[in-house]
Amino acid sequence: MKKSILLIGLLSSVAVAQQATDYSSKVDSLLQLMTIEDKIGQTVQFSGGWDVTGPTVSDVNEDLVKSGQIGSFLNLVTAKATKDIQKLAVEESRLGIPLLIGYDVIHGYKTIFPINLGLSSSWNPELVELTAQKAAEEAAAEGIHWTFSPMVDVARDPRWGRISEGSGEDVYLGKKLAEAYVRGYQGDDLSLPTTIAACMKHFVGYGASLAGRDYNTVDMGDNELRNTYLPGFKAGLDAGARTLMTSFNVINDVPASGNKYTLKEILRNEWGFDGLVVSDYTSINEMIPHGYAEDGKDAAQKSFSATVDMDMMGDLYRSYLQELIAEGKLTMDELDASVRRILTLKFELGLFDDPYRYSDVKREEATIYRQDILDAALEAARQSTVLLQNNNNVLPLKTKNIALIGPLAADESSIIGDWAAKGDRSGKAISVEEGLRDLLNQSNITVVQGTDINSTSTEGFKAALKAAKKAEAIVMVLGEDSNMSGEAASRASIKLPGNQSALLAAVREANPNKPIVLVLFNGRPLDITADITNADAVLEAWFPGTMGGQAIAELIYGKVNPSAKLSVSFPVNVGQVPVFYSNKTTGRPMNPMNPKGDYRSFYQDIPNKPLYSFGYGLSYSSFEYSNIQLDQVTRNGALELNFSAQIKNTSNVDGYEIVQLYLQDVTASITRPAKELKGFEKVWIKAGATKTVYFKLQKEELGFWNNGTFVVEAGQFKYTIAPNSDADLVHSFILE
Ligand code: NOJ
Repeated sequence: MKKSILLIGLLSSVAVAQQATDYSSKVDSLLQLMTIEDKIGQTVQFSGGWDVTGPTVSDVNEDLVKSGQIGSFLNLVTAKATKDIQKLAVEESRLGIPLLIGYDVIHGYKTIFPINLGLSSSWNPELVELTAQKAAEEAAAEGIHWTFSPMVDVARDPRWGRISEGSGEDVYLGKKLAEAYVRGYQGDDLSLPTTIAACMKHFVGYGASLAGRDYNTVDMGDNELRNTYLPGFKAGLDAGARTLMTSFNVINDVPASGNKYTLKEILRNEWGFDGLVVSDYTSINEMIPHGYAEDGKDAAQKSFSATVDMDMMGDLYRSYLQELIAEGKLTMDELDASVRRILTLKFELGLFDDPYRYSDVKREEATIYRQDILDAALEAARQSTVLLQNNNNVLPLKTKNIALIGPLAADESSIIGDWAAKGDRSGKAISVEEGLRDLLNQSNITVVQGTDINSTSTEGFKAALKAAKKAEAIVMVLGEDSNMSGEAASRASIKLPGNQSALLAAVREANPNKPIVLVLFNGRPLDITADITNADAVLEAWFPGTMGGQAIAELIYGKVNPSAKLSVSFPVNVGQVPVFYSNKTTGRPMNPMNPKGDYRSFYQDIPNKPLYSFGYGLSYSSFEYSNIQLDQVTRNGALELNFSAQIKNTSNVDGYEIVQLYLQDVTASITRPAKELKGFEKVWIKAGATKTVYFKLQKEELGFWNNGTFVVEAGQFKYTIAPNSDADLVHSFILE
């Protein structure tokens, strides 16, 4: 025990002579003291458990900690439990190396923000950064050093349940939000007890899982990999993310957790990433059923030699690394390199200065559900809810006499969504019912469930119809439950589950002239083509989090003006999937004058266009775009493209508008998307006022990857500045 404390003292004093961020000599000194067993211990991550008494670590794992055979835990929470286990590592293991404690803090820790797909609909990087920063504060107070977030997988298939965890279909928006999450979690100083390390995941291609089925195979060309799936990772790492997680899928015939091309060639060699790479949960072992590794030992060898530093829950590194090194199949240098990366992170987090700095019972009490964190959750829910339809301006509602119907109307569990960390599933989140009651200051709202989320029984319809009959307006809260999206939650049908659509249709039929507001909870774009004909207004709330019900009530009654826009397209029908705005044109683009003819690219039975496109969303304000311009200037020898447009709020309601810049490289050495988002700005414009919005692009931002080389090619580009991705690119310029 004394030895460990001495060691920490020694290492800390070395630190004084070092630059704040260079820990290499401290890491080297420590490495010299370590046996091969100590080193391998650092590469091992196990899961904590949960008992009726609270968080636990099994006796076996406690012994492994004491003997230095575990370097990291996941799923271990609370200031007390994390401190207890840290004590074992620091005071009872030979070298006293502190443990690294990770957790899935995905969209909040205790206070839950909207799901990430919802957050991305805010198109507000500063707000996303704020949510990540607040989540980090709560998690850090409970002893967590590291979050497995952000998930930056571009996702274009709503059947895939994990589309809920990311920022949608677009590369550019995804990059901006990846940077925001990293800044939020890590801040400027990783060693502060309020910041935690971020983890870019899942490397790589996971969002393209075949047919939207989770963990499925991925095949894509190198250009698609580099132009679409890698940029989010690169952006997050450039913003300083210190760790990265491999993915479950196979990519181009090689499992991502043993893929030397993506991990060694691209991540380590090309990008120079020197941070920690962790596998996904048993993803190293899964190389056996993938048919890529013969057994656990072979899997460990393949993964470790691809520079995966830490084995999450697979127990293969602990079992086989020593043997593999003895046999010359792995080298001591490789082991040292991995351990160096792991220890460096522990130093950066300040764990060698004070291993208990994160686990602070007092700070935990003062931080969890703190008012400013709840306020951030409220603002995030307001800005993440997308108004998809508002026929005859039925919203904001003008009457207080409402019937509130649907299986999610009073829900305080699903509202916080999947991957809701330690969020409370009852008694804490504000349901839509509670939000409306508080706002309207009345207790006589009629609330009827009508049906269950996934039911065929129509027993409850009668009560719903009765309540609807008595009311002047009807608010229906329908959707998925939170288990229907997230990991291993693919759906082949993306319609409202059960008989919810039938309930809505029945309510409409009996009330043809009453305003019906449909509020949706879901973790993916749904096929709501039929449902929108039975509602006047549609609010896509995703899973809006702890403060969701309040935000929805405020939006329904116009206390807050909706400002979100979709970060992912809503298909007309699952048959269109994947449907996304930046598709290529085809050699036979559909002829709008003859949409079903001329041997062109179309469906005989449904349109090509999605129901709602990327970037779409309504507000209670209306905006007019004019004066779209481009000024090309050369500054210090570098070309700069200055785009601008004037946006007028033509309504009498102040509001946000999300202004979007789209470009197309018309002819290039490889085919390019029909449209690409290259800039956006969320601007507040007062009623009647006009704002000029500017976008400055460097020439490099018009480039792309072709066959492993990044190129910017001269020639014609089309562009526009518009409220969503449906706009035609009517302007053009020549890049010299
Ligand atoms: C598996 C998931 O794919 C990953 O995203 C998550 O971080 C780990 N499990 C740890 O819970």
